Amino acid sequence: MDTIVDLRSDTVTRPTAGMREAMATADVGDDVYGEDPAVNALEAEVAALFGHEAALFAPSGSMANQIALQLVVPPGHELLCDADAHVVTYEIGAAAAYGGISSRTWPAVGGDVDPDMVAAMVRPDGYWAVPTRAIAVEQTHNRGGGGVLPLRTLQALRRVADEAGVALHCDGARIWHAHVADGVPLAEYGALFDTLSVCLSKGLGAPVGSLVIGSAEQIERARFIRKRMGGGMRQAGILAAAGRYALAHHVPRLAEDHAKAARLAEAIAPFGLLATTVRTNIVPLDLTKASLDAHALAAAARAEGVLVSVLGPRTARLVTHMDVDDAGIDRAIAVLTRILAG
Ligand SMILES: Cc1ncc(COP(=O)(O)O)c(C=O)c1O
Repeated sequence: MDTIVDLRSDTVTRPTAGMREAMATADVGDDVYGEDPAVNALEAEVAALFGHEAALFAPSGSMANQIALQLVVPPGHELLCDADAHVVTYEIGAAAAYGGISSRTWPAVGGDVDPDMVAAMVRPDGYWAVPTRAIAVEQTHNRGGGGVLPLRTLQALRRVADEAGVALHCDGARIWHAHVADGVPLAEYGALFDTLSVCLSKGLGAPVGSLVIGSAEQIERARFIRKRMGGGMRQAGILAAAGRYALAHHVPRLAEDHAKAARLAEAIAPFGLLATTVRTNIVPLDLTKASLDAHALAAAARAEGVLVSVLGPRTARLVTHMDVDDAGIDRAIAVLTRILAG
């Protein structure tokens, strides 16, 4: 069989030769002492990109989100987010388990958000109900099919947060994709949020690494929370060097991944299975009306060397990334259209 075409996630990429070289030659130190030059440089670069005072390197996007949530929501207070948000879908109850945070969700509508509905959900301080302390959004939205929240929606949410006196957090694991798709400068996104988490290992090709972004005071507290969560790393500059390389070389090329996803979507569109308009690198499939379910599709595709993600009994997902080239997309189109045509 030809090589596998892995469309399960953009987390499956392997470091490129240039990235490995950068990692091998990184100047490192003990980051728990704050002495790793590569980590310090990455943190300063990312804070500057988003126009914030400081940033903190973390081992994963989940930990970066959870550190940020603990910064903005005290125990016994609540976070509002959508029901499909990564923070309440894939982070294994961490907000409650580590932060004593109560989460309340609005119904997921793909990547979209209605700011008025969110405003109506906010609960004020008082001893009779759990007070809201933060609102979280995801840009781009993973289970929302890589949807990009428009700038005007985010601006409206900022107004909602300001009027309610609560924080606005962005799970920006793929904010790079939104930046490339909509052309919004990263600093313009940054200015709208109290805290952000961003990932270097989704789409950008780094093997590990995320950052929490916020004010200098927040990041000082974040360092303490990260240590408590077991996320203090020593010569982490080896990893930070991969992240710095990814930021320097792999952001504009995300447009190629978006084009590959659009090509996949175009080929699959005649089957009437696209759950939403494809804007970035995620192609969500709604198999409700298909002759086969998500497990059957994944098994049939796997037998022909194409890997897809099963998100639910009738929901599947294809994700494009730097380790699948145009020939791989051609193969995936041939295999998937043949299976779907039954
Ligand atoms: C939107 C979003 N946020 C956070 C994460 C968590 O990242 P990690 O797997 O590094 O914990 C992911 C992972 O895919 C994600 O898609």
